[in-house]
Amino acid sequence: MLRLPRPVACALASLGCAAAIGCTGDVETPTYDFGLFPEVAHSGFNPKASFKVMFGTGATDPSWSIADPSIATIAPSPPPKVSGATVSSMSFALVTATKAGETTITMTSGGRTLTARLVIKAYSDEDLAAGKARYEDASTDPARAPCASCHAKEGGVDHSPLKMAGFDDPTIVEVIQKATYPASSTGRSATSAFAPRGPLEFTGHTWNLSEPEKSGILAHLRSLPLGGL
Ligand code: HEC
Repeated sequence: MLRLPRPVACALASLGCAAAIGCTGDVETPTYDFGLFPEVAHSGFNPKASFKVMFGTGATDPSWSIADPSIATIAPSPPPKVSGATVSSMSFALVTATKAGETTITMTSGGRTLTARLVIKAYSDEDLAAGKARYEDASTDPARAPCASCHAKEGGVDHSPLKMAGFDDPTIVEVIQKATYPASSTGRSATSAFAPRGPLEFTGHTWNLSEPEKSGILAHLRSLPLGGL
Protein backbone atom coordinates (compact mmCIF):
# COMPACT_ATOMS: atom_id res chain seq x y z
CA MET A 1 0.00 0.00 0.00
CA LEU A 2 1.25 3.48 -0.86
CA ARG A 3 2.09 5.81 1.96
CA LEU A 4 -0.48 8.60 1.70
CA PRO A 5 0.33 12.17 2.63
CA ARG A 6 -0.99 12.75 6.15
CA PRO A 7 -3.94 15.07 5.24
CA VAL A 8 -5.22 12.50 2.70
CA ALA A 9 -4.79 9.65 5.14
CA CYS A 10 -6.53 11.64 7.84
CA ALA A 11 -9.43 12.54 5.58
CA LEU A 12 -9.85 8.85 4.72
CA ALA A 13 -9.50 7.80 8.33
CA SER A 14 -12.09 10.26 9.50
CA LEU A 15 -14.79 9.26 7.01
CA GLY A 16 -17.80 8.44 9.09
CA CYS A 17 -16.41 10.21 12.14
CA ALA A 18 -17.82 13.44 13.46
CA ALA A 19 -14.42 15.06 13.73
CA ALA A 20 -11.00 14.29 12.34
CA ILE A 21 -9.50 13.86 15.78
CA GLY A 22 -6.13 12.20 15.89
CA CYS A 23 -4.89 14.08 12.87
CA THR A 24 -2.98 16.75 14.69
CA GLY A 25 0.05 14.46 14.68
CA ASP A 26 1.30 15.81 18.00
CA VAL A 27 1.38 12.62 20.02
CA GLU A 28 0.55 9.55 18.08
CA THR A 29 -0.69 9.15 14.53
CA PRO A 30 -1.99 5.72 13.59
CA THR A 31 -0.10 4.09 10.79
CA TYR A 32 -1.44 3.74 7.26
CA ASP A 33 1.53 1.64 6.21
CA PHE A 34 1.87 -2.09 5.96
CA GLY A 35 3.54 -2.28 9.42
CA LEU A 36 2.74 -4.61 12.32
CA PHE A 37 2.78 -3.14 15.86
CA PRO A 38 4.31 -3.71 18.31
CA GLU A 39 7.39 -5.61 17.09
CA VAL A 40 7.70 -7.28 20.48
CA ALA A 41 4.76 -7.53 22.90
CA HIS A 42 5.30 -8.29 26.58
CA SER A 43 2.54 -9.82 28.65
CA GLY A 44 2.10 -12.01 31.69
CA PHE A 45 0.30 -15.04 32.92
CA ASN A 46 -1.44 -16.00 36.15
CA PRO A 47 -4.67 -18.04 36.06
CA LYS A 48 -6.40 -15.59 38.43
CA ALA A 49 -6.10 -12.60 36.09
CA SER A 50 -6.60 -11.85 32.40
CA PHE A 51 -3.51 -10.82 30.42
CA LYS A 52 -4.15 -9.48 26.93
CA VAL A 53 -2.19 -7.61 24.30
CA MET A 54 -3.26 -6.02 21.02
CA PHE A 55 -1.47 -6.18 17.69
CA GLY A 56 -2.34 -3.61 15.04
CA THR A 57 -1.66 -3.30 11.31
CA GLY A 58 -2.42 -0.88 8.51
CA ALA A 59 -2.53 -3.82 6.05
CA THR A 60 -5.89 -4.72 4.52
CA ASP A 61 -7.77 -7.96 5.32
CA PRO A 62 -5.00 -9.45 7.44
CA SER A 63 -5.03 -13.04 8.60
CA TRP A 64 -3.39 -13.79 11.94
CA SER A 65 -1.69 -16.83 13.40
CA ILE A 66 0.44 -17.83 16.35
CA ALA A 67 3.36 -20.28 16.12
CA ASP A 68 2.73 -21.90 19.52
CA PRO A 69 -1.02 -21.86 20.28
CA SER A 70 -0.41 -23.37 23.74
CA ILE A 71 1.03 -20.02 24.92
CA ALA A 72 -1.78 -17.71 23.79
CA THR A 73 -4.87 -17.43 21.64
CA ILE A 74 -5.20 -14.85 18.86
CA ALA A 75 -8.40 -13.52 17.32
CA PRO A 76 -9.32 -10.57 15.08
CA SER A 77 -10.64 -7.71 17.20
CA PRO A 78 -12.74 -4.60 16.69
CA PRO A 79 -10.60 -1.44 16.93
CA PRO A 80 -9.74 -0.48 20.50
CA LYS A 81 -10.66 2.93 21.87
CA VAL A 82 -7.53 5.05 21.64
CA SER A 83 -7.78 8.45 23.24
CA GLY A 84 -7.03 11.20 20.72
CA ALA A 85 -6.55 8.90 17.72
CA THR A 86 -8.76 7.51 14.96
CA VAL A 87 -7.83 3.90 14.35
CA SER A 88 -10.90 2.74 12.43
CA SER A 89 -8.89 2.24 9.24
CA MET A 90 -6.54 -0.22 10.94
CA SER A 91 -7.03 -3.92 11.70
CA PHE A 92 -6.38 -5.48 15.08
CA ALA A 93 -5.91 -8.84 16.75
CA LEU A 94 -6.34 -9.52 20.43
CA VAL A 95 -3.96 -12.00 22.04
CA THR A 96 -4.89 -13.66 25.35
CA ALA A 97 -2.08 -15.35 27.29
CA THR A 98 -2.65 -18.95 28.39
CA LYS A 99 0.80 -19.77 29.82
CA ALA A 100 4.30 -18.32 30.17
CA GLY A 101 6.69 -18.60 27.21
CA GLU A 102 7.77 -16.97 23.96
CA THR A 103 6.41 -17.37 20.47
CA THR A 104 5.85 -15.61 17.14
CA ILE A 105 2.76 -13.85 15.82
CA THR A 106 2.32 -13.83 12.03
CA MET A 107 0.19 -11.42 10.01
CA THR A 108 -0.40 -12.11 6.31
CA SER A 109 -2.06 -9.72 3.87
CA GLY A 110 -2.09 -9.81 0.07
CA GLY A 111 0.70 -12.38 -0.06
CA ARG A 112 2.97 -10.40 2.27
CA THR A 113 3.88 -11.59 5.74
CA LEU A 114 5.12 -9.79 8.85
CA THR A 115 6.02 -11.31 12.20
CA ALA A 116 6.23 -10.03 15.75
CA ARG A 117 7.46 -11.61 18.97
CA LEU A 118 5.29 -12.37 22.00
CA VAL A 119 6.96 -12.70 25.42
CA ILE A 120 4.84 -13.95 28.32
CA LYS A 121 6.20 -13.98 31.86
CA ALA A 122 4.68 -15.91 34.78
CA TYR A 123 3.47 -13.80 37.71
CA SER A 124 2.72 -15.16 41.17
CA ASP A 125 -0.39 -14.48 43.25
CA GLU A 126 1.89 -12.41 45.52
CA ASP A 127 2.96 -10.27 42.55
CA LEU A 128 -0.66 -9.58 41.65
CA ALA A 129 -1.59 -8.72 45.25
CA ALA A 130 1.46 -6.46 45.78
CA GLY A 131 0.81 -4.63 42.51
CA LYS A 132 -2.88 -4.06 43.20
CA ALA A 133 -2.13 -2.76 46.70
CA ARG A 134 0.59 -0.38 45.47
CA TYR A 135 -1.68 0.81 42.67
CA GLU A 136 -4.70 1.49 44.88
CA ASP A 137 -3.74 1.98 48.53
CA ALA A 138 -3.56 5.42 50.09
CA SER A 139 -0.29 6.47 51.77
CA THR A 140 0.91 9.42 53.80
CA ASP A 141 4.25 9.28 51.92
CA PRO A 142 3.98 11.62 48.89
CA ALA A 143 6.32 9.32 46.92
CA ARG A 144 3.83 6.50 47.41
CA ALA A 145 0.74 8.23 46.03
CA PRO A 146 -1.64 5.59 44.67
CA CYS A 147 -1.25 5.24 40.90
CA ALA A 148 -5.04 5.00 40.67
CA SER A 149 -5.45 8.55 42.02
CA CYS A 150 -4.28 9.82 38.61
CA HIS A 151 -4.47 6.94 36.17
CA ALA A 152 -7.88 5.49 37.11
CA LYS A 153 -9.73 8.78 36.98
CA GLU A 154 -11.62 10.07 33.93
CA GLY A 155 -9.06 11.18 31.32
CA GLY A 156 -6.12 9.58 33.18
CA VAL A 157 -3.08 8.75 31.02
CA ASP A 158 -3.40 5.30 29.43
CA HIS A 159 -0.84 2.81 30.72
CA SER A 160 -2.82 -0.29 29.80
CA PRO A 161 -1.17 -2.98 27.65
CA LEU A 162 -2.46 -1.09 24.58
CA LYS A 163 0.18 1.53 25.34
CA MET A 164 2.76 -0.41 27.37
CA ALA A 165 2.88 -3.99 25.97
CA GLY A 166 5.54 -2.87 23.49
CA PHE A 167 7.90 -1.98 26.34
CA ASP A 168 10.03 -4.36 28.40
CA ASP A 169 10.02 -4.49 32.21
CA PRO A 170 13.10 -2.31 32.91
CA THR A 171 11.75 0.44 30.61
CA ILE A 172 8.41 0.57 32.42
CA VAL A 173 10.03 0.57 35.87
CA GLU A 174 12.24 3.52 34.79
CA VAL A 175 9.18 5.44 33.58
CA ILE A 176 7.48 4.87 36.94
CA GLN A 177 10.48 5.60 39.15
CA LYS A 178 12.67 7.96 37.13
CA ALA A 179 10.16 9.75 34.85
CA THR A 180 12.04 8.79 31.72
CA TYR A 181 12.02 6.45 28.74
CA PRO A 182 15.43 5.35 27.45
CA ALA A 183 17.18 7.79 25.08
CA SER A 184 16.72 5.33 22.21
CA SER A 185 13.60 3.39 22.97
CA THR A 186 12.67 0.41 20.84
CA GLY A 187 9.22 0.14 22.41
CA ARG A 188 6.10 0.55 20.32
CA SER A 189 2.44 1.28 20.82
CA ALA A 190 -0.08 -1.12 19.22
CA THR A 191 -1.38 1.59 16.91
CA SER A 192 1.72 3.06 15.29
CA ALA A 193 5.48 3.27 15.23
CA PHE A 194 5.14 5.84 18.05
CA ALA A 195 8.10 5.30 20.37
CA PRO A 196 8.54 7.73 23.24
CA ARG A 197 12.13 8.64 24.08
CA GLY A 198 13.76 10.48 26.95
CA PRO A 199 12.17 12.29 29.92
CA LEU A 200 8.43 12.56 30.55
CA GLU A 201 6.98 16.06 30.57
CA PHE A 202 5.84 15.29 34.11
CA THR A 203 9.28 15.25 35.74
CA GLY A 204 7.77 14.54 39.18
CA HIS A 205 6.81 11.01 38.08
CA THR A 206 9.36 9.46 40.47
CA TRP A 207 7.35 7.04 42.56
CA ASN A 208 8.62 4.75 45.26
CA LEU A 209 8.32 1.00 44.68
CA SER A 210 9.70 -1.66 47.02
CA GLU A 211 11.58 -4.56 45.40
CA PRO A 212 8.53 -6.92 45.46
CA GLU A 213 6.32 -4.09 44.19
CA LYS A 214 8.42 -3.81 41.00
CA SER A 215 7.25 -7.13 39.59
CA GLY A 216 3.92 -6.54 41.34
CA ILE A 217 3.20 -3.31 39.50
CA LEU A 218 4.23 -4.92 36.19
CA ALA A 219 1.80 -7.79 36.86
CA HIS A 220 -0.92 -5.26 37.64
CA LEU A 221 -0.30 -3.01 34.61
CA ARG A 222 0.02 -5.95 32.22
CA SER A 223 -3.31 -7.37 33.45
CA LEU A 224 -5.32 -4.15 33.03
CA PRO A 225 -8.11 -4.17 30.42
CA LEU A 226 -7.09 -2.39 27.22
CA GLY A 227 -8.85 -0.08 24.81
CA GLY A 228 -12.28 -0.85 26.23
CA LEU A 229 -11.87 -4.59 25.47
C1 HEC B 1 0.07 12.55 40.30
C2 HEC B 1 -0.50 11.73 39.23
C3 HEC B 1 0.16 10.41 38.89
C4 HEC B 1 0.47 9.38 39.76
C5 HEC B 1 0.25 9.30 41.26
C6 HEC B 1 1.05 8.34 38.92
N1 HEC B 1 1.10 8.73 37.60
FE1 HEC B 1 1.80 7.65 36.04
N2 HEC B 1 1.57 9.23 34.82
C7 HEC B 1 0.96 10.42 35.17
C8 HEC B 1 1.02 11.32 34.03
C9 HEC B 1 0.46 12.74 33.98
C10 HEC B 1 1.71 10.62 33.00
C11 HEC B 1 2.11 11.15 31.63
C12 HEC B 1 3.43 11.84 31.85
C13 HEC B 1 4.05 12.49 30.63
O1 HEC B 1 3.93 11.93 29.53
O2 HEC B 1 4.66 13.56 30.84
C14 HEC B 1 2.03 9.31 33.54
C15 HEC B 1 2.67 8.31 32.81
C16 HEC B 1 2.79 7.00 33.24
C17 HEC B 1 3.28 5.91 32.44
C18 HEC B 1 3.71 6.02 30.99
C19 HEC B 1 2.52 6.12 30.09
C20 HEC B 1 2.83 6.76 28.76
O3 HEC B 1 1.87 7.06 28.05
O4 HEC B 1 3.99 6.98 28.40
C21 HEC B 1 3.22 4.78 33.22
C22 HEC B 1 3.61 3.37 32.80
C23 HEC B 1 2.76 5.18 34.50
N3 HEC B 1 2.50 6.53 34.49
C24 HEC B 1 2.58 4.33 35.57
C25 HEC B 1 2.32 4.77 36.88
C26 HEC B 1 2.34 3.91 38.05
C27 HEC B 1 2.59 2.42 38.03
C28 HEC B 1 2.08 4.70 39.14
C29 HEC B 1 2.05 4.32 40.60
C30 HEC B 1 3.22 3.67 41.15
C31 HEC B 1 1.85 6.05 38.63
N4 HEC B 1 2.02 6.06 37.26
C32 HEC B 1 1.51 7.14 39.42
C33 HEC B 1 0.41 10.73 36.37
C34 HEC B 1 0.56 9.99 37.55
